[in-house]
Amino acid sequence: MSPTFPQPLSSLLIGLLSLLFLLLLPDLHSTATTATGIRLGVIRKPSPDVPIFREAPAFRNGETCASDDKIHVAMTLDSNYLRGTMAAVLSILQHSTCPENVEFHFLWSRHEPDVSSSIKSTFPYLNFKVYRFNSKKVRGKISKSIRQALDQPLNYARIYLADIIPAEVKRVVYLDSDLVVVDDIKKLWEVDLENKVLAAPEYCHANFTTYFTGLFWSDPSMSSIFDGRKPCYFNTGVMVVDVDKWRQGDYTSKMEEWMVVQKQKRIYHLGSLPPFLLVLGGDITGVDHRWNQHGLGGDNLEGKCRSLHPGPISLLHWSGKGKPWLRLDSRKPCTVDHLWAPYDLYRSSTQSLEE
Ligand SMILES: *[C@@H]1O[C@H](CO)[C@@H](O)[C@H](O)[C@H]1NC(C)=O
Repeated sequence: MSPTFPQPLSSLLIGLLSLLFLLLLPDLHSTATTATGIRLGVIRKPSPDVPIFREAPAFRNGETCASDDKIHVAMTLDSNYLRGTMAAVLSILQHSTCPENVEFHFLWSRHEPDVSSSIKSTFPYLNFKVYRFNSKKVRGKISKSIRQALDQPLNYARIYLADIIPAEVKRVVYLDSDLVVVDDIKKLWEVDLENKVLAAPEYCHANFTTYFTGLFWSDPSMSSIFDGRKPCYFNTGVMVVDVDKWRQGDYTSKMEEWMVVQKQKRIYHLGSLPPFLLVLGGDITGVDHRWNQHGLGGDNLEGKCRSLHPGPISLLHWSGKGKPWLRLDSRKPCTVDHLWAPYDLYRSSTQSLEE
């Protein structure tokens, strides 16, 4: 007969064992760190914060391309999302008929030399400019939303886009960093804006009421902003913007005014989206839904797996909490994440070892 400990005694033993483990832990931990440090030192360049990416091939213009036919694409640049940005850029170049005509405008809030050199070494032939977005502009105007990532100042840079990029740029495609384009970006760039300041896919079946609080709807001095409009939800991660019209109409100030109201009264729950809806909802040009298959990151709270909506797709967007690179790394990817993986330029240490 094997000895069995009575319940209280066995839990005491477990307690003692865990205590012993905790006492040993600092030692174990420091050994592991040293080992990793040595291993990384051999494989990686001495820049631990910025991941190492493979060099993308050179993408050349097709014969039909006119060299002065520029396509301006604006994105934000943040070391946390760099892997996403790299994948997005690759996807755009890969599906473009005229990849050399695409000019990238990157907005960042902090100058990170490593990030800049990372882009240069990953895309040696890329036309790009980097601009500083002064996050002081929004610091006093951001109120807490339902997801912390939405409260980052850089998330608001799209509101200031028209004022940041050079005046000679008249139209811009703004794109988030958690998406891939699987069609020629020229088609999106060329949409007819029909005299509107902004074009984006619209979703009129979404319950628009839910984007604002009861306080907002019960106060006519605020909710009358929508009088005479039929506002629909649109996602601000994919937008074609007539930045010239934006500047002339000073839409930046119009959105800032609502951000000030929000700071005092809490009229919505999300971050940079509601100011867009307030100022432009119901007054934009609709774009085919194929250009923003969004929500692939799941909802804002749990990031559950989502499947694709039916219909043709030109752009896949992992908006929501889950990001494909994190889910792939955690070895618990959603099915849709395998559509992002082919654009991943991240060189993991195991891959480096194999090469
Ligand atoms: C839209 O949402 C509001 C607030 O949550 C709710 O009162 C209303 O019934 C909803 N409308 C529809 C058509 O579902």
